Amino acid sequence: MTAPTRSAFDTCDLDSVDLSVPEAFVDGPPHELFARLRAQAPVHRNHSRNPYVGDFWSITRAADIEMVSKHATLFSAHERGIWMRSDAAGGLDLMRNMVIFKDPPDHTRYRKLVQVAFTPRTIAHLEDYVRARVTTILDRAAETGSMDLVKDLSLPVPLAVITDLLGAPASDVGKLADWTARLDTGVDAPELGICMEAMMEMAGYLEELILGQIKGDSLVGLLARAEVDGDRLTEDELLMFFAILVFAGNDTTRNATSSGVLALTEHPDQLQALAADPSRIPNAVEEILRWSTPLNYFARTALEDTEIRGVPIAAGDLLLLWYASGSRDEEILPGADRFDVLRPVEYHQAFGGGGRHFCLGAGLARLELKVIFEEFTRRVRDPRLSGPVVRHCTTWVNGYDSIPLTFTPA
Ligand code: HEM
Repeated sequence: MTAPTRSAFDTCDLDSVDLSVPEAFVDGPPHELFARLRAQAPVHRNHSRNPYVGDFWSITRAADIEMVSKHATLFSAHERGIWMRSDAAGGLDLMRNMVIFKDPPDHTRYRKLVQVAFTPRTIAHLEDYVRARVTTILDRAAETGSMDLVKDLSLPVPLAVITDLLGAPASDVGKLADWTARLDTGVDAPELGICMEAMMEMAGYLEELILGQIKGDSLVGLLARAEVDGDRLTEDELLMFFAILVFAGNDTTRNATSSGVLALTEHPDQLQALAADPSRIPNAVEEILRWSTPLNYFARTALEDTEIRGVPIAAGDLLLLWYASGSRDEEILPGADRFDVLRPVEYHQAFGGGGRHFCLGAGLARLELKVIFEEFTRRVRDPRLSGPVVRHCTTWVNGYDSIPLTFTPA
């Protein structure tokens, strides 16, 4: 039996559905299918036809995603990792040094030590830096009234912020962009070489960069000296923290920016309402995050036999938490399939299901997006697509490679 094509997702037999193949995501997350799964099979056994991925459970309702996320002692990020393919991005042993692969009590200790990097005070000073980047980019684009949104705005802004946090020279941004792109694509690629190579190259680069700053006043020095209950980060832990920042803080914010601008271009009345009343922007950012949910899923592994909604889950089973689905669950927001920045958005799962791995950079991402949309709505009028939109979709990432725009400078 072959897997149903995307066009058949609203009628196909749910037993034949397979979310392990990138083809299901070529036009973005399959939201029609997620709606059916939430209604008819919220705990769905996915029989994988992808030779590199085993069978897994798809968890699609917001309440269940939250429950699994909050039970870190029963549902582990460490056991088989956070992707559907446990060897994605290289060896699990290497990746397990990252905060997102740790379970309590290891995770609790590590997170306490690294969160000093993201207190509201430490990120607030980045606002002026982000604004200066965004205004320079938009001023330059205003000269021609055109830009490729992804290459010119969505990509460089978060990349500049990460470069700054790492204390890396601005001339190295291209390298950081390249490693992120290779990890993104490599997670779904048959050959894991792409990811491994990128990880190894980056590890070598970071070792020199980070260890050279340990005694200084940059973020690296702050973290190296951070102490909780007499405990400090080891050099390896410090390195792996900066490694995760390169991946976690980069294409996520990029894809939220792209999706948000695209949606506002398609809803000019909402763009005008934001331009007329910028106090609506923080709420608009939440709607953009909810609507786009840039990371489709992360995985957990059951450590004991258990059940969800009466469906038995065996110890060792992999569960995929589909945040893309949870963010559009009608139980948390009526009309969730509609993009509407003007209604209040209280809850979404773009930053995860609210457990202890909840996105550490959420405050920073919100700050970047607020500044980007404040400046965009202030400076850009009447944006129109001037060429084909090119998506960049994998089973994991919901994003874009190119969005050509023309506009009238305000
Ligand atoms: C729109 C932008 C972003 C999105 C959509 C996003 C999404 C996520 C998600 C879904 C998780 C996993 C949550 C869970 O497992 O419960 C996560 C974790 C994480 N994110 Fe983000 N993220 C974004 C921006 C950032 C930024 C800017 C940074 C830092 C510069 C960052 C750093 C992290 C870290 C370190 C973790 C792991 C936390 C832990 O395991 O305790 N993220 N993010």
